[in-house]
Formats: sequence, structure tokens, C-alpha cells
Amino acid sequence: DVTEAVEIFEVGPRDGLQNEARPIPVPEKVALIDCLGRAGFRRIEVASFVSPKWVPQMASSGEVLAEITRVPGISYAALTPNLKGFEAALAAGADEVAIFASASEGFSRANLNATIAESLARFAPVAAAARAAGVPVRGYVSCVVECPYDGPVAPEAAARAAAALSELGVYEVSLGDTIGQGTPEAVDAMLTRVLEEMPPTRLAGHFHDTSGRALENVEVALERGLRVFDAAVGGLGGCPYAPGAKGNVATEAVAERLAELGYATGLDRAVLAEAAAMARAMRAG
Ligand code: HMG
Ligand code: MG
Repeated sequence: DVTEAVEIFEVGPRDGLQNEARPIPVPEKVALIDCLGRAGFRRIEVASFVSPKWVPQMASSGEVLAEITRVPGISYAALTPNLKGFEAALAAGADEVAIFASASEGFSRANLNATIAESLARFAPVAAAARAAGVPVRGYVSCVVECPYDGPVAPEAAARAAAALSELGVYEVSLGDTIGQGTPEAVDAMLTRVLEEMPPTRLAGHFHDTSGRALENVEVALERGLRVFDAAVGGLGGCPYAPGAKGNVATEAVAERLAELGYATGLDRAVLAEAAAMARAMRAG
């Protein structure tokens, strides 16, 4: 019988490291990414071309992209909040970029200094420039179930943001439980509404593990047909503009759960363990 494939999109070097207070030297970041490059991922998010005043840790993104050893077949991804970020990502050789909106106004303001509508207006030229340059664009919707500023988020708001990104031409929308407060019931209700806008093949689940329910939420999303999950090796992470947010669900934990459920990730567990140890050491400083 055929084992069904599920992809883990590694976001540790970006979502994981962006929240670390200690400025992490470029060679440490490069070593982690190069280790991850041997694990079997198809996509790794390694950089973020945002304002260095907002996220100082990501200021070295250009150097990081210049110094990693590129593994053929891996797409090295970067966040780009505006055209300035897109130009920098392109110059640094990012293989794909991501635009990131919020389902809640409070988080949009805190994270992007813009309303949801203003942020989408800023993303439109990024998407157009990426299309012209032949660079694939992924989309994120943050706070799909809970917002640290506005509280519970209506499924309708998540669906509207996902649809808006889809209209901008993103190839996939990653649904973020940014602060890891989503219950499986809330995630299921959110997915019901989002799936009215787009098929599960164009969605990814992005769960933070603050309240320890991320693996359950992965299972709920699997049942709804999603086959891509974002995760950070070693459970690194958080978001500087989401107080209380803990790490992303750990890549090695998702890989293990998927294997138990009979899905194939194509990842090398020994290499993942090595990368997880490196990630934990980086967090400890
Ligand atoms: P702003 O202050 O409104 O923007 O910030 P601005 O256009 O007025 O620019 C302010 C300064 O930033 C200027 O410099 C710009 O040049 C500079 P100054 O003139 O003061 O010296 N600037 C830039 N520098 C480098 N690269 C750029 C860039 N753009 C402007 N691209 C802005 C607006 C969007 C820039 C800011 O709010 C920002 O950078 N936000 C990013 C916040 C962020 O990165 N958050 C974490 C990622 S999102 C996340 O983690 C969630 C996710 O994981 C999914 C989930 O879990 O839900 C994706
Ligand atoms: Mg995140």
C-alpha cells in the first residue's frame, strides 16, 4: 500500500530565531540551515527582510542567504512585508518570498503598523513584482483563531484574509495560530469557513505550541485535507509582536506524529535530532 506524503515546511531559522533576544552570529544561523539542508526538506524559511528596528535579529538575512550552502531542490524562503523587503530578498537570492497578513486588526497594527486593508494594499505590488520576476509567493494569515490584542477571531475574518491573499496570487496560504491558543474545536470551525474559499491543497497549517495543543490541531487539519505543516526544529520560536507566544510546534514532534499516523515526510530523523540539538543550544546562548 502507498503511504501518503505530508510536507513539513521548516520555519525554524526565521520564525524560530526571530524572537531570540541574543543577537545570533551569522555562522550559527548558517550552520543550523546547512544542517537542515541535509534533512530532506523541500522548503526552508531562512530569512526576513523586514525593518531591522522592528526585528533586529533578522537584520543579517542577506548575509545568511549569501553564506548558506544551497542544496539543489530546496527552496530557501524569505518574508517580505513591502517592496523594499522584496527587492532585498531578490538581491539576496531568496527562491521564494512570503507576504503576511492578519485576520485581526489588533495584530495587524502591532506587527505591521497597518490596518488589514492597508497591509493588503502594500502586498499587492510585492505580489506583482514577484510575478514579474518569476518568484513564487506564499501567504500567511496570522491570528486565525485567537489574537493577543483582540481575543477570539471569527472564522469569517480568517477566511476573508485567506481569500484576499489568494486573490493576490499566492500559491499557498499558511494559517497561523500565532499565539498557540487555538483549541481543536476552534481550528476545525475556522477551517470549515476557510475551505469555502480555497481547497486544502492550497493551505498549510502553522501552529504555535503555547498551550500544548499544536499536535492535536495538526491532526484536525489533516482530517480536513491539509498536507503541509509549518514547524520549527527544536520547537524554537515565538513572535516578537505576539506577547506570550511560545515556539512553533517542533518539527521532530510533527514528523514523529505523522509517522505514527502512517504519513511519509521523507525527513531523516537522525539529522532532525542533530538540528534540534543545535537549535536548543542556540536558544540557551
Ligand atoms: P513602519 O515603521 O510603518 O514603516 O513599519 P516605514 O515604511 O515608515 O519604515 C520605517 C523604517 O523601516 C524606515 O527606516 C524604512 O526604511 C525601514 P528609517 O527611515 O526610519 O531609517 N524599512 C525597512 N528596512 C528594511 N527592510 C524593509 C523595510 N521596510 C521599511 N522591508 C514595517 C512597517 C512593515 C516595515 C514594519 O512594521 C515591519 O518591519 N514589520 C515586520 C514585523 C515582523 O517581521 N514580524 C514577525 C514576522 S510575522 C510572524 O512571525 C507571524 C508568522 O510566523 C505567522 C504566524 O505565526 O501567525 C508569519
Ligand atoms: Mg509564526
